[in-house]
Amino acid sequence: MLKVSNMDAYYGQSKVLEDISIEIKDGEFVTIIGANGAGKSTIMKCLMGIHNPSRGSIIYKGEDIAGMNAWERAEHGIGYIPEGRRVFSKMTVEENLLVGAYTVKDKIKIKRNLERCYEIFPRLKERRNQKSKTMSGGEQQMLAISRALMIEPELLLIDEISMGLMPLLVTHSINLIKKLHKEGMTVLLVEQNAKKALEASDRGYVLETGRITMEDSSSLLKENEAVIKAYLGA
Ligand SMILES: Nc1ncnc2c1ncn2[C@@H]1O[C@H](COP(=O)(O)OP(=O)(O)OP(=O)(O)O)[C@@H](O)[C@H]1O
Ligand SMILES: [Mg+2]
Repeated sequence: MLKVSNMDAYYGQSKVLEDISIEIKDGEFVTIIGANGAGKSTIMKCLMGIHNPSRGSIIYKGEDIAGMNAWERAEHGIGYIPEGRRVFSKMTVEENLLVGAYTVKDKIKIKRNLERCYEIFPRLKERRNQKSKTMSGGEQQMLAISRALMIEPELLLIDEISMGLMPLLVTHSINLIKKLHKEGMTVLLVEQNAKKALEASDRGYVLETGRITMEDSSSLLKENEAVIKAYLGA
């Protein structure tokens, strides 16, 4: 479904991604684990068209999407939950969700997806008219997840779902993603919480200072000495 080949990226003069090649098959749940500053968010931004790689190709469903902007990529079925839940703070919960559906033309589909989000997170329904900046951190994360679901993404890119959430909500959110994956959604999750990410995913990559250094099934990565030492805190 997604094939990234030999991607480099810079911020100014400093190279933060070097020769990144990753592949996600249709229906797979893939994770990228890595330390702070390794370049995980930068990969996501490049995939979403928010940052431009200096080299490499991004093929999505057989089509080169490198020249598309973020809206066009959303239109093609790529959903994105950014790091730090960037919700539109001056808008209400419902307005945020409707903006998330900006690329969806079908009104019935929008309504159906809105109801589905409210079903998943009843808290959002209760607070549909509340300005999102006054929502708690966890509620804003629910909103960020829901906003991405408004386009019924075929591929969902998730940058740190666990950030700022209490453990119970982390589990709840990951279980939700697992459920959506079971229903057919392809998922790429980047996480600092390597344990949770490897438990949820089929396959994983390890990113170290801008380079992919390991790739394996998540179950084998979980048992890998180097991964345990560096990321699983043993
Ligand atoms: N807009 C920017 N301008 C300059 N440097 C940046 C910018 N964004 C990120 N960087 C640098 O690029 C490197 C990779 O950052 P990135 O945010 O991709 O890391 P990350 O793996 O997501 O880290 P974290 O786990 O802390 O979220 C870091 O050294 C960071 O300081
Ligand atoms: Mg990050």
